[in-house]
Amino acid sequence: MDKHHIVAGLDLGTSKVSVVIAEVSPEKKINIIGVGESSSEGMRHGVVINLEKTINSIKTAVHDAQVMAGIEIGPICVAVTGEHIKGMASKGVISIGSRNEGITNADVERVRESAKGIAIPTEREIIHTLTQDFIVDNQPNIVDPVGLMGMRLEAIIYIITGSSLALGNIKKAVERAGLVVDMMVIQSLASSYAVLDSEEMHQGVCLLDIGGGVTNIAIWYGGSLRDIGLVKLGGEAITRDIAMGLATSRTYAEKIKIEKSAAHPSYLDLEEIIEIPGTAGRGPRKINTEKLYDVVEARVEEMLDFSYRRIKRSEYAHNLASGLVVTGGCANLKGILEVGEELFELPMRVGIPTNDLSGMVEAVSSPSFSTCVGLIKYTVMDKEENNVKRIYTSQDTFMDRLKKWISDFF
Ligand SMILES: Nc1ncnc2c1ncn2[C@@H]1O[C@H](COP(=O)(O)OP(=O)(O)OP(=O)(O)O)[C@@H](O)[C@H]1O
Ligand SMILES: [Mg+2]
Repeated sequence: MDKHHIVAGLDLGTSKVSVVIAEVSPEKKINIIGVGESSSEGMRHGVVINLEKTINSIKTAVHDAQVMAGIEIGPICVAVTGEHIKGMASKGVISIGSRNEGITNADVERVRESAKGIAIPTEREIIHTLTQDFIVDNQPNIVDPVGLMGMRLEAIIYIITGSSLALGNIKKAVERAGLVVDMMVIQSLASSYAVLDSEEMHQGVCLLDIGGGVTNIAIWYGGSLRDIGLVKLGGEAITRDIAMGLATSRTYAEKIKIEKSAAHPSYLDLEEIIEIPGTAGRGPRKINTEKLYDVVEARVEEMLDFSYRRIKRSEYAHNLASGLVVTGGCANLKGILEVGEELFELPMRVGIPTNDLSGMVEAVSSPSFSTCVGLIKYTVMDKEENNVKRIYTSQDTFMDRLKKWISDFF
């Protein structure tokens, strides 16, 4: 990478399709130059349910981003999610023998290949193979084994696979919209790169990306992705409940959710009266804010409780020293942190994907852009290794970053 190059990311969400175009410098600095968004009607829970509508949403978002950037994009990195995506840790073992130079890059490649050599059913394909751990002569948590002396090298690789059919439909939609898929990245991994910092990834953190239709979960520990999960609930369920509970249209329910609702009473005047337009020719009605709060709070609590139960099943559930980071459009909902912290009994913060960016940062400074911005960050990493390499490595201390910042500045 010796000159500026262009990278583009596409997020096919349940609520919206978004595209981000960035210019990346040889030093891997990301400059956002184009952003496009369109409403998504052809996707549900990460799966294409209407090909033509999906193609049109992609075309609109890509067109807007290209006009803003003033360029046409080439290959694009696409975020994928859905119940069909599964993660599984696999172990590889090789014998090194006794040699003077210790473990070599070729050995690392060989042990990774050995871990990857498990049978994958024909209807599934591999999306990621991420190194979780190296073990040298029974000594675990080796970050980089190259150069170390040892007789036996083990690698734990987290293999993420998805249904070939579901991924094939996404590829087809992208190609029919006139683009080429550069690579596919699971949503929770992309969002993680946008909003988590390396210290959190190292200490243990859980990312919750709560979108319109789904909640994507990613658990990080020791600098590696350890577990992924999905709950088929998001902000649309809250909107649906408001529409039902207050007997109004989905459109008005969405508006009132964003403008007037909260999941915690500290953000509301529960006595306040709200006027609700009636449906099917009925006149408007007046309701207490408390009624709106009851509906929203119940759904948010249930939604987070599903995530809580999924996280509890993970063997890393007790390794979340950095708590949780919530992102996705629902992270905008007032009071979600209070409900989450009480339920998880862990600290929680909102993740907004603006770190280490320049250019049109304002256009992506919302939690609903985490996946798209994360795709750019993932693309910027060293792809050759086909492995997770953080922009800041887990060994980067605050002082390293400060030194880097000072040297960049002068
Ligand atoms: N200020 C806000 N308050 C409450 N909810 C909000 C707010 N802003 C956005 N949302 C909700 O966020 C959801 C959309 O989030 P996002 O854009 O992350 O979804 P998506 O990526 O399209 O969907 P998914 O990830 O589920 O496929 C919608 O349900 C929307 O109502
Ligand atoms: Mg999303």
